[in-house]
Amino acid sequence: MSKIRHFLTLMDFTPDELQQLVQRAIEMKKQWKSGEIYEPLKNMTLAMIFEKSSTRTRVSFEAGMNQLGGHAMFLSTRDTQLGRGEPIEDSARVISSMVDAVMIRTFGHDIVEKFAAHSSVPVINALTDDFHPCQLLADMMTYEEHRGSIRGKTAAYVGDGNNMCHSWMNAAKQFGFHLNIACPEGYEPNSELMETLREHVTLYHNIADAVKGVDVVVTDVWASMGQEQEQKIREKAFKHFKVDSAAMALADKDAIFMHCLPAHREEEVSTAVLEGPQSVVWDEAENRLHAQKALLEALVIGLPSQLSLQKAS
Ligand code: CP
Ligand code: NVA
Repeated sequence: MSKIRHFLTLMDFTPDELQQLVQRAIEMKKQWKSGEIYEPLKNMTLAMIFEKSSTRTRVSFEAGMNQLGGHAMFLSTRDTQLGRGEPIEDSARVISSMVDAVMIRTFGHDIVEKFAAHSSVPVINALTDDFHPCQLLADMMTYEEHRGSIRGKTAAYVGDGNNMCHSWMNAAKQFGFHLNIACPEGYEPNSELMETLREHVTLYHNIADAVKGVDVVVTDVWASMGQEQEQKIREKAFKHFKVDSAAMALADKDAIFMHCLPAHREEEVSTAVLEGPQSVVWDEAENRLHAQKALLEALVIGLPSQLSLQKAS
């Protein structure tokens, strides 16, 4: 039996495998739009464990699993034994014995790691406090669709050194681009990750230097899920880190604007930028569906290169 693969961060796949996923997602999107039925996951089940709120992640995984012929089961920690203290290890052994893949959105990244270590099926990180790799698959796909390869380009991430920032940092290495980060002092990304990725990332404490001439500008909310009580303090700390038309004017003239959503208009981004001609945020949201269908296919039945080998033999 082949070793089970998980998707906890972008580092779980090689650069070549990530490229395969993006190309496969673009292909699956075209097939789906043309009305083609493709159900390789018939009779299979994805367990979706949510400890935090979600719109895009839940809808995209549930619709995606359905389109692939399978079923998605929504499990909230509020009404499973996970919320009443049953150990993660035990839950992982039990849940994974009945389904074909598990998706988890939770707080500590150690929770998904522990679950994966005790799971007999692939585990997907659907956002932790530290990483949001599924979002980056959709983001890389969206860049590719709008502008071609991101290799050799420069992106600017403006805002909190959070889960989105960390996943953009990993993407810089895995997809071969440079990432400028603009954040207020005290809100920098994880220092160990910065050290590991220092060839791929440059840190600024002002927005103008970070966005100058870049090919893509990306931002995220100032207070993430679990930080709601810090909203007021963060509004003050981040007030000079809003992506507005003046900031976009400093980027390359063909630059695109990205945001994982949900967005807070007139906080981290102006309405004019979010709704403007450079914004690709709605495609980015839709691409969660296509990118995750490619991911589910890869984890449950194999990557495109493995599938074509199987067909050939
Ligand atoms: N971008 C994203 O993950 O959105 P949701 O929180 O709505 O799932
Ligand atoms: N940084 C945000 C991303 C939401 C998709 C959060 O963790 O709440």
